Amino acid sequence: MPCEVAARFLILYGSQRGQAQSIAEEICQQAAEHGFTADISCLSNQHNYNLDSEIRPVVFMVSTTGDGDPPDTAQKFVRKIKNKSLPHHHFSHLRYALLALGDTNYANFCNGGKTIDSRLQQLGAKHFYPTGHADDGTGLEVVVDPWIEGLWDALKKTFSSMATSDQQDADLSDCTQDNFHKTASGQEKNKSDLEVDLHLLKLSEADSQKGKEIKSDSSDVETLSTVLVASLKQSVPPLSQSALSVPALPASYLEVRLEQEPVPSDKDGYHEVSISKAVQLTQDDAVKAAILLELDISEQNLAYQPGDGFDILCPNRASEVEELLLRLDLQTRKNCAVQVNLLKNSTAKVPLHIPQNGSLQFILTWCLEIRSAPKKAFVRALVDFTQNGSEKRRLLELCSKEGSADYNSFVRDANVCLLDLLRAFPSCLPPLSLLFEHLPKLQPRAYSAASSSLQHPGKVNLVFNVVEFPARPEHPARKGLCTGWLAGHVSSILRPLGTPCRRLAPPRPSSTFHLPADPSVPVVMVGPGTGVAPFIGFLQQREKEREANREATFGEMWLFFGCRHKDKDFLFREELERFAHNGTLSHLIVCFSRDEPDAAGTVNRPTYVQHNLRLHAKNVASILLKDKGSLYVCGDAKNMAKDVNDTLLEIIGNELQIDKLDAMKTVAGLREEKRYLQDIWS
Ligand code: 2AM
Repeated sequence: MPCEVAARFLILYGSQRGQAQSIAEEICQQAAEHGFTADISCLSNQHNYNLDSEIRPVVFMVSTTGDGDPPDTAQKFVRKIKNKSLPHHHFSHLRYALLALGDTNYANFCNGGKTIDSRLQQLGAKHFYPTGHADDGTGLEVVVDPWIEGLWDALKKTFSSMATSDQQDADLSDCTQDNFHKTASGQEKNKSDLEVDLHLLKLSEADSQKGKEIKSDSSDVETLSTVLVASLKQSVPPLSQSALSVPALPASYLEVRLEQEPVPSDKDGYHEVSISKAVQLTQDDAVKAAILLELDISEQNLAYQPGDGFDILCPNRASEVEELLLRLDLQTRKNCAVQVNLLKNSTAKVPLHIPQNGSLQFILTWCLEIRSAPKKAFVRALVDFTQNGSEKRRLLELCSKEGSADYNSFVRDANVCLLDLLRAFPSCLPPLSLLFEHLPKLQPRAYSAASSSLQHPGKVNLVFNVVEFPARPEHPARKGLCTGWLAGHVSSILRPLGTPCRRLAPPRPSSTFHLPADPSVPVVMVGPGTGVAPFIGFLQQREKEREANREATFGEMWLFFGCRHKDKDFLFREELERFAHNGTLSHLIVCFSRDEPDAAGTVNRPTYVQHNLRLHAKNVASILLKDKGSLYVCGDAKNMAKDVNDTLLEIIGNELQIDKLDAMKTVAGLREEKRYLQDIWS
């Protein structure tokens, strides 16, 4: 007979930056509402589970990193299941579902999940539900939400087929002995358990300084929000049946107290460094401003190689934190220490990125991604804290199954964040616990070093475009969080140098994006726009090496660079021309995408880097195929890297007189040999 315990399944996740984990936790949370009990564990905690004898259905959540690798937390697991001595029926007892996360802007989409999926299949495991492949490039939830919706039915069917076997029932009862670090049981969460205890307290001088650097622009924000509220109120449609059928989620599982004596909790692993120089590399009328920051890392002794990256943790905008505090009615309590506990009976976990005893302002400024688009589960949770009926209905519609397109256009595509939602739904007043449960961790942003420490001892240069989000009905125009914050330091350069640029992580060594160990190996570098950054580092390094060793043989260095206008955004022009002049760079090949054709009116002049690659196809092919050289591509992942890849296939296909499939195999071989390397972003 099926008993309650029979409806128990296991969730295993392999997460790199927390997305797979948070989806896994979401499933774990929802399990109880659907009558299941879920156990959850990270794949790296191998003592928590044993698939060799697992009879519960298993749900895998696996992300992808690097060049299509499984996340670090899944590496050990992958090694284990790849063991060649395992027989083909090793997992024939296993029933599983797998959701792979990836990004189509990068090569080997979802390969982390695919690797695990295909190996489990080889070893006899059976799907009880088709594998999902979610694309971060277009929005994970487009696949994740329907996949989770369908999972519950698939689990029900699996359990009812399993229930036909008495033996299996007995086995399932045994598995309740397992001791997992987290269990979503069916217990009802009691909203009255949610206590928010507020004690006002003074904060140390130093801590209260945090977040004061940026001028508040909340007056503009308020004007726009008033307009927005009015227009949204008018557009609230009548409540549909589907919205009514959205299942209720547990309101909250955290208890948040604001108490005395906050201890400023500085995030570990980051260094505070100074900006020693800031230069705008583009003319004022360039399409996008590009800025170079020179950071002084001499005191921190941070060694890096050209090609390595640095993580910068930037604070949320002070004006947005202030507005959020005001909106939540917590403005006067921002200096209180925050204590977060689990409600009694809750089996969830306090998110690790929320420090105990940090001030409320500190947490909103440094720990939570307040600009993130609220997920549907968050929108659903907000409903319970919204007074106005029509606002409630609108929120319900947005998070309903049928409201996916609506959610995408209103929230995701419009870059709507929590603050925008709160402006649009004025009767919504969520407790802090809800924010802590649903807002993801504030992630550092990675930048490639655009310098060599041989040429700039004790310094590292970073280059970036300032990202601009245009004004929309839902929010005012704003700059990207990190690039906007960094750009804010450029004007401050008029003040004495040494403005603290807070929180630079130690260099993140690139495992592969380095110059070849053998300097005689030729290299082709493709880096339009700010994609040229790591190559400036490569070239500075090579220039110094050549000066130091005039006898040595150095391989050719080709740089394919592209920008819009020769006179407006030709980044590092003087330096690149110097490299070309002194022989560091054997070929500097530049194209301008938006300059008028010259007087000669060259027909089909190259406008993009790949056009120039095609013009130099013979050389490129010979470097890669004959001289065993390397190809480096850095910059935009969405279009440029794809187009360059297509051109490479064409060049190799023509050179070797092979068809596209074989050209793809040759290019895959180059990737495998780490001679075709990408440092790309979207
Ligand atoms: P565009 O903006 O004029 O289209 C740096 O951003 C340079 O890369 C710009 O000149 C930009 O041109 C160009 N660029 C845009 N899309 C590209 C693509 N798909 N391939 C190569 N270069 C591209």
